[in-house]
Amino acid sequence: MNASVTPSALGRLNHVALVVDDLDKACHSWKHMLGASLSERQVLPEHGVTVVFIDLPNTRIELLEPLGDGSPVSRFLEKHRGGGMHHICLEVSDISAARDELTAKGARILGDGTAKIGAHGNPVIFMHPGDFHGTLIELEEVPL
Ligand code: CO
Repeated sequence: MNASVTPSALGRLNHVALVVDDLDKACHSWKHMLGASLSERQVLPEHGVTVVFIDLPNTRIELLEPLGDGSPVSRFLEKHRGGGMHHICLEVSDISAARDELTAKGARILGDGTAKIGAHGNPVIFMHPGDFHGTLIELEEVPL
């Protein structure tokens, strides 16, 4: 375990995630109005979402559409009609060390506290937004 992983050792902003109510329409808007280059669609049943990534020079935008019953994104759309900003994703070099350190400081991890494999094939965890002033933060393990 890498004990040097602390919030002060955060890596890059990996992506900003936006929930949309219609992924096809959202992709059309980003592509035709903003000239964005879009990834292939990824279906992620474990996360209850279908995602498309938009590459920018300094980070990515993640477009999220609900998938299946009980998608966490469906609940978000009920509160934010039409969609909106859902989370930011920050890179860490060792997700287990980051999780252990954050929980030792009193932060809460969503779900069962274990990392799941995210859209880029890397382990991810989500921090409770109540501990971060209303913002949902995803941490993704990326070799720094
Ligand atoms: Co994300």
